[in-house]
Amino acid sequence: MKIGKLLEKAKTEHSLSKDDIIELLNSDGILLCKAADEVREKYKGNNVHLRGLIEFSNICGRSCYYCGLRSENKKVERYRLSDEEIFLSAQNAVNAGYKTLVLQSGEDSYYTVDRLCRIIENLRKNDVVITLSIGERTFEEYKILKEAGVERYLLRIETTDRNLYGALHPKMSIDNRFECLYNLKKLGYETGTGVLVGLPNQTISSLAEDILFFKELNADMVGIGPLIPHPETPLKDASKDNFDMALKVMAVTRLVLPDINIPATTAMETIRKNGRIIALNSGANVVMPNMTIGKYRKYYEIYPDKICINDSPLKCIDCIKLKIETAGRKVSQTKGYRNDIN
Ligand code: SAM
Ligand code: SF4
Ligand code: FES
Repeated sequence: MKIGKLLEKAKTEHSLSKDDIIELLNSDGILLCKAADEVREKYKGNNVHLRGLIEFSNICGRSCYYCGLRSENKKVERYRLSDEEIFLSAQNAVNAGYKTLVLQSGEDSYYTVDRLCRIIENLRKNDVVITLSIGERTFEEYKILKEAGVERYLLRIETTDRNLYGALHPKMSIDNRFECLYNLKKLGYETGTGVLVGLPNQTISSLAEDILFFKELNADMVGIGPLIPHPETPLKDASKDNFDMALKVMAVTRLVLPDINIPATTAMETIRKNGRIIALNSGANVVMPNMTIGKYRKYYEIYPDKICINDSPLKCIDCIKLKIETAGRKVSQTKGYRNDIN
């Protein structure tokens, strides 16, 4: 089918076959990104949701082949924020009007559910939505955290290609990852997932399967990260040229899941000047500025040359607002649930 006709169908039906998706991913992406931008405007309006990201621990027991926080990387200085530092980071975001906090860490077993519940209880004294992104936990743990007031959870599947997943995640199981995501949905979390684009041996066909999985899960949020090779990982020599494909995967995701929240990811800005604005103009409607206080930002080095590591939360708050407004969009005043239009 001609690309124009395919996009017209996608804009009205929001359903695409695997072959359709492959065709779109093989296109130059110009018409695709325009169509995704139109769908975003129709379903999500012009407002952009800001989620304040707090990277509260870079300690991780896993060894994902792409990630600078993997336990085998002895060169990174490890840290945990104190409860007080987490609270102060949150306060900056809340004072700036942020309605959602995202607490992210490596898979750090120090954070038992009891410890997490104490932190959450403290943060919930503010009128904010709490999102967690701390990796795989049991159904019971997710349940307790939900009951403690966590409303959203981010857990990327990273790739749905079984062989590729197995090759990049020692001692991890893709079936457990799928199960975690379905458990989160079952428990009523707004569930975010996503993939890395540019993994060695990843094919267009497997990226198309990834998008079909987002649809099957009925993900509430999807974050697409271009892989940025980290020098202290086994993927240090992988391709760095992953922006354009990541943008196309994001745009197709918007077409098939028109009402979900899609972030313009920090990784996109790291490898392309104005990458977040390009993403906001290609289907995205969320930005997650870094609200971590103090010296810790530079140690949360999942990939090299990450933006904002030497900036303060206040600088990021002003910077991102200006960028959004310059791009003709507005910062949303709502909590940004999937069902919120603006
Ligand atoms: N440990 C939790 C987990 O894995 O779900 C949350 C933190 S982890 C650092 C967050 C995300 O960082 C991962 O889902 C992965 O997609 C992304 N990431 C890790 N290494 C990366 C790299 N080299 N380039 C781009 N993104 C990367
Ligand atoms: Fe740990 Fe997450 Fe990095 Fe994997 S991606 S090594 S689980 S921080
Ligand atoms: Fe941090 Fe621009 S968002 S300096």
